[in-house]
Amino acid sequence: MKVAVPKERRPGEARVAASPESVKKLIGLGLDVVIESGAGEAAGYPDDVFTKNGAKIAAGESEALADADIVFKVRRPLLKGEGEVDELALIKKGAMLVAILDPYDSPESIKAYAEAGINAFAMELMPRITRAQSMDVLSSQANLAGYLCVIEAAANYKSAFPMMMTAAGTVPPARVFVMGAGVAGLQAIATARRLGAIVSATDVRPASKEEVQSLGGTFVAVEDEEFQQAQTAGGYAKEMSEAYRKKQSELVAETLKKQDIVICTALIPGRPAPTLVSEDMVKTMKPGAVIVDLAAERGGNCPLTEPDKVVEKHGVTIVGYRNVAGRMPGGASSLYARNLTAFLTPLYDKESGALKLNWEDETVSGTNLTRDGKIVHPAFATAAEAPAASGT
Ligand code: NAI
Repeated sequence: MKVAVPKERRPGEARVAASPESVKKLIGLGLDVVIESGAGEAAGYPDDVFTKNGAKIAAGESEALADADIVFKVRRPLLKGEGEVDELALIKKGAMLVAILDPYDSPESIKAYAEAGINAFAMELMPRITRAQSMDVLSSQANLAGYLCVIEAAANYKSAFPMMMTAAGTVPPARVFVMGAGVAGLQAIATARRLGAIVSATDVRPASKEEVQSLGGTFVAVEDEEFQQAQTAGGYAKEMSEAYRKKQSELVAETLKKQDIVICTALIPGRPAPTLVSEDMVKTMKPGAVIVDLAAERGGNCPLTEPDKVVEKHGVTIVGYRNVAGRMPGGASSLYARNLTAFLTPLYDKESGALKLNWEDETVSGTNLTRDGKIVHPAFATAAEAPAASGT
């Protein structure tokens, strides 16, 4: 059975869906691994690190994908008219496609997978259950992004993060405020603390309070009854009421005035990012302050954020890079490739050399968008296309 890993062709994507370690693991399972030549170059993995671990190198994408039973990608394949090649057309009917497929923002692609007869799995839909932690691409990538956004903040800040005591006097430590204490936010808190900053954080999920405090941050939030209920069974945030948002916004406005660095990571799955730092709030911030808006990917937590740009507004530097994990492609690819391998391993039967998918397993049913020409995921299937409730 052949696993193919093509080169990513979307602009600015330096990650690759394989690492030397993942190749070794897949080959150990009995799979053949074919990597498109140059696929790992931008992530620091030249072809020979893959061949040393047993992979074959294909000269081009069509050669890599030809006859592949399983296709590992980082981003969704280019559809006809989206780029220089129609990548989807190169994948054979019946193949398993595993990637970050961005189904909420590209419903047309889900239809295209169904029409092409491809069994597509969106890794970002992986249920947040203990067993699936090693398959959780959102966590692995958000962890790195949380670290890197603090490094970006420090690079754009005109002073120091730690308190600097010198013979000439003392430079005070930076005050860092993290908005959204999920996976990225918690890593940002830890990183900013390691650099010596004074850190506070806010979130709408009550569970985050203890996590923020355990990392040495101060928790800032309106802790009313709505706040106590603001978490779904999956661990995600709920959209808050107008009344709560107003109260929280007043508290945030006061907090922002004292900050040197603001890290925005607040997201609600499948929705545009909530606006948390308004233009009026930016106007009250200290000159030279830095906002890193990690939510830029989904519109930003600050309306002044410009995607993929560093801009200065009202004396505040606003960093709006999207795909922040992709800015450290070596580490990000290595963790991502491990997530994919962890997902595939229990689905592949070594004895028979074939896939044995249990369609009722949560890791399968939770991520599977299309199967045998139909859209099967309940969040995306229309009533007519959905399979019987038994999920056969
Ligand atoms: P996310 O990327 O969807 O959101 C980031 C953070 O923004 C969340 O903590 C969310 O509560 C917060 N947020 C949303 N709206 C906000 C607002 N208006 N103001 C302030 N903050 C706001 O979330 P992420 O980082 O993917 O994970 C959220 C939680 O899921 C984790 O902290 C954890 O509890 C849980 N989780 C569980 C896992 C598991 O059990 N396998 C794995 C990873 C996460």
